[in-house]
Amino acid sequence: MFFCNTTNTSTILLLLLSVGWCEKLPHKLVKSTPVQLEKSYGKLYKHNQCHYLLKHLQDGEQISVHMPPDIAGHWVSESCEVRPGPEFLTRSYHFFSNHTFQALQFYYRDNHCTKPGYTLLIEGSLHPRQASWLVRGGTESDYQLSRVLLVSHSLPVAKDLQVKLEMTCGLTEHLEPELSYELWIEGSDRDCTHGLDFSVQELQLLRMERRFRPDEPDRQAEELFVGDVHTEHTQRRNHRPMSYQPPLQNVKTYDNSCVACQIISVADFHHPPVLPSQTDHPPHLYGNWVSKRCEVRPGVLFLTRHFVFHKESNIWEGHYYHYSDPVCRHPTFSIYAKGHYSPGIPSTTVMGGTEYTFTVIQMKVTPMDLATTSLLNVFSGDECGKQGSWKQGVQQDVTPTSGCAALGIRLPHTEYELFYMGRDSAGHRLLFNGQRPTNGSSPDQPHKRATSYQPPLIHCSAGQKGIGKEGDHHFRLGNGCDTQPQYLVYAFILFTLVFSVI
Ligand SMILES: *[C@@H]1O[C@H](CO)[C@@H](O)[C@H](O)[C@H]1NC(C)=O
Ligand SMILES: *[C@@H]1O[C@H](CO)[C@@H](O)[C@H](O)[C@H]1NC(C)=O
Repeated sequence: MFFCNTTNTSTILLLLLSVGWCEKLPHKLVKSTPVQLEKSYGKLYKHNQCHYLLKHLQDGEQISVHMPPDIAGHWVSESCEVRPGPEFLTRSYHFFSNHTFQALQFYYRDNHCTKPGYTLLIEGSLHPRQASWLVRGGTESDYQLSRVLLVSHSLPVAKDLQVKLEMTCGLTEHLEPELSYELWIEGSDRDCTHGLDFSVQELQLLRMERRFRPDEPDRQAEELFVGDVHTEHTQRRNHRPMSYQPPLQNVKTYDNSCVACQIISVADFHHPPVLPSQTDHPPHLYGNWVSKRCEVRPGVLFLTRHFVFHKESNIWEGHYYHYSDPVCRHPTFSIYAKGHYSPGIPSTTVMGGTEYTFTVIQMKVTPMDLATTSLLNVFSGDECGKQGSWKQGVQQDVTPTSGCAALGIRLPHTEYELFYMGRDSAGHRLLFNGQRPTNGSSPDQPHKRATSYQPPLIHCSAGQKGIGKEGDHHFRLGNGCDTQPQYLVYAFILFTLVFSVI
């Protein structure tokens, strides 16, 4: 939901903020180490599951990231995925050690992936290259396709595809269900992939995480993230990924509770996975929800979120904790927002989705590092809180200045939202809200409402005290980073500002 659009200036500054960090990317292994938070939370921390879950993201789950990633293996979706459009799909990707790959994308007619529509088999080669400069923690790679095959799984779908392909590539064959067709092959002039908004630009950005399991230390969970899909279907083919899709699970290490993983891992081109059918329930938003992992947003932003929906009054509160690094350990700033939300109505565009309207009427900002503090202090006049008064770790209400220009936030602000409520394989309640438009704009008009989702939030309980006290700055973690790179960044920022003023 609500989030600041960074203006051009601040995007550049944030980019600079993120380059000088002390975690050195080219190193083979980036490992997060436990940090103590209890000291700042005291008793409250112990009783607050939401804060515990957020803290857990920062240190508890030990994640290691290998760069460049060794992606050889078989990777599958862990649930029915939703792409902008919407498109409902599951994926099964094979990467071989000779750098070739075979990727299966199974498309469905329903949001639980129970009715297969058609399947694409994509073959080619993939070479991981260097650490991404745009998305810290990611690896850029080059791919080349060799062929793309299509099979449809029902007569209505075959007819529908026939019409699309006749229009876009002059398909002459008659599409029959269960027969495979070549949409494109290396060296051919005819390209029928256009008709399906086909793109595997996602393969240009990779990240593989190994997650330590306390109960099974010898069997670390391996997850593969590939690049995001542009929210505008016309932009898909030339989109350079700036964030990720939901992770794929390695078939050797997925959690036994993942039923979808099991079903997808044994499917093939002619036998698409059919996931168990489920009923959709309207979202019950009440309560607290926190991020399941450190999230990546286009524009070099890493964050975790904590939302509270109040029962009586349709009031919501959001805490957005921003970080400079891909494991969310080094805070840059946090935002607290509060406002109203409308009653939900079922979406007619996205099966299973519910539409809401959100408004933000109050906002507080806490700069958490020197660089952001300096940035906020440089902005003049009535653009973001009291000019020149920002202090690291000290929250300021920016409602009187109608938000914060430096962070691209204007109040009051309205957003058109899409929500979906599901469960993870362990049965925990999950809340999905709409994907932000890839171009960085805000869904501030009904036609900009999302047709796909962000990473899910998990339900948690905030204990008796609730949240909303000055919890923000407790997320500042003591870290082993020496301060020198920060000064470097600071110098960079001053340089940029001086430069732009002249
Ligand atoms: C690469 O390896 C796969 C799986 O072992 C094999 O099927 C394929 O033919 C190989 N391709 C090349 C070009 O060697
Ligand atoms: C950004 O995307 C939205 C919808 O996704 C569109 O309405 C808007 O015009 C786009 N803005 C720009 C500047 O391209």
